Amino acid sequence: MPTLHWVGKDKVVRHHHDVPFKVLKREYRFASAQPAANTSTGNKIIHGDNLEALKALLPEYEGRIQCIYIDPPYNTGNEGWVYNDNVNDPRLLKWLNKVVGKEGEDLSRHDKWLCMMYPRLKLLHRLLAEDGSMWVSIDGNEQASLRLLLDEIFGVNNLVSEIVWQKRVSPANDAKFFSSDHEYIFVYARNKNIFTLNRLERTENQLSNYKNPDGDPRGNWNSVTYTCNKTADERPNLYYGIKNPNTGDIIFPKKTAVWKYDEKKHMENETNNLLFWGMDGKNKAPRMKRFLEGMGNVVPRSIFQYSDFGHTQEARTELLGILENSAFSTTKPVKLISRILEIASNQDSIILDSFAGSGTTAHAVLKLNAQDGGKRKFILVEMMDYAETITAERVRRVMDGYGENPPPPAPLTEGEGSTTPIAGRGSKVVEGLGGGFEYFTLGEALFTENGQLNEAVGVEAILRYVAYSERIADFSCPLTQLRQTDSVLKTESVFPREKEGRCGELPPAKDATGCYYLGETHGVQVYFIYQPDRVTSLDVDLLAQLPVKPGKLVIYADQCLLGEDFMRRHGIIFKKIPRDITRF
Ligand SMILES: C[S@@+](CC[C@H](N)C(=O)[O-])C[C@H]1O[C@@H](n2cnc3c(N)ncnc32)[C@H](O)[C@@H]1O
Repeated sequence: MPTLHWVGKDKVVRHHHDVPFKVLKREYRFASAQPAANTSTGNKIIHGDNLEALKALLPEYEGRIQCIYIDPPYNTGNEGWVYNDNVNDPRLLKWLNKVVGKEGEDLSRHDKWLCMMYPRLKLLHRLLAEDGSMWVSIDGNEQASLRLLLDEIFGVNNLVSEIVWQKRVSPANDAKFFSSDHEYIFVYARNKNIFTLNRLERTENQLSNYKNPDGDPRGNWNSVTYTCNKTADERPNLYYGIKNPNTGDIIFPKKTAVWKYDEKKHMENETNNLLFWGMDGKNKAPRMKRFLEGMGNVVPRSIFQYSDFGHTQEARTELLGILENSAFSTTKPVKLISRILEIASNQDSIILDSFAGSGTTAHAVLKLNAQDGGKRKFILVEMMDYAETITAERVRRVMDGYGENPPPPAPLTEGEGSTTPIAGRGSKVVEGLGGGFEYFTLGEALFTENGQLNEAVGVEAILRYVAYSERIADFSCPLTQLRQTDSVLKTESVFPREKEGRCGELPPAKDATGCYYLGETHGVQVYFIYQPDRVTSLDVDLLAQLPVKPGKLVIYADQCLLGEDFMRRHGIIFKKIPRDITRF
């Protein structure tokens, strides 16, 4: 298989492992006052670089995202994007924090873009559900490189389609050569063998092809050819004369394209009023009526026409309607993304956009939920400061409603003759869709540079991380810390206080404070014995205090003072803090 090479590739292929795991710091929670029977909660907007944000999402979301849509910088040379990944390599450090320039001026422009994209795509791939798909918008600047990159990360067999989106209505007449009217959208499945997609509801445009000129009681129809591409020699039974009932003419098909049906079936079609001879009834060949009812939804086509999927001008108008004066210029139409979600998500899917810009993906999720009663959730990541003023603000307005209708005219007070309206608020032009989200920034790294737990993140963040890494599905904070006084500890432990040979010299923890039960996963109970300022030990005294049910145990602590044989007999797995905490 052909692969792509570029300056710095050797350094970035494993870079996603080196990215520090940071905890997400919740800044605020927004809940719209609009009643929202259908729309989801549990949405997230993250302000920060998506390399770190995606890593922070891994423990909770690995393998759970049904649909990823991203619209990264296209590397046009005009976007002013900056390479700022701290990869430890002198060639890449030279690029750090410098704006990526234009073709010709910046010979490493494509290398930089590939170095930026590779580790992010690796993390996105891990976040995708086994039956999920990723959709990536791109234009001609990086389309060819991106295809090879995605082939490498997803596997060439998982390419579902390369879509062409017709983004303009009218051509750019000032173009030097061609008016650039399209972009691409790559669609990759995590695993094409199990990936399925939804067919699309017909658009207004498509529905308008179905009419009922003859008032057929079966409803609207359009017509299809009555011939097929077989010859009279190949299908002699399909070559015969049929009579136009309006003109009396006997009509034969061409010998190179005979009728689609034999004479018996044709008679049935005639009896069932399925033949159409043109508006004046005098056509030289019939067509077959095809009724809209019972046709079902349509298969998505690989060309997304602006009439059905929106265009860039429409997208800008949409955004200005919500955020007047917004200077954000690379927004996508809501229609484009909601149609993608129609194809690639179900009503409970989690949808991720890690290059969120003006937040169109969240808008599309909310709109689609309102349309079909779904409970899709969105996660957006945006690194620029406008994550709050544009991304989150747009989502808030879409949830609350936007645009002010003028206030209703004031009632006239008798005898006054004045028509001055009473000061009041008008209603929203576009009604709110309801819902809410949590807004996060990137907090501290969970591990320090020398691999120790960073206590500054707080016990809760550490426990949450470990619980996710152990795949404990119903983990919830705040946790109950098991204390001597907790009644739960008074239950009989399954472990006798048997004396074990100690395998270390350090004293055991004096009490059970710092002992956290994280939950159960596949019949294994998981405990985390942790104190920020003291070494914790797994020993018989501690074990005897755990209210464990019979079954296997995973116990995290700083050290283990139990013998191997004892551990094996009681089905205990010891994991050392921090060494054995999984690094995502
Ligand atoms: C082309 S725009 C996306 C537009 C979006 N689809 C919309 O409809 O508004 C790309 C966005 O990705 C953001 N971005 C670029 N690099 C990023 C990174 N490393 N982390 C997070 N956001 C990033 C940019 O700031 C920009 O807002």
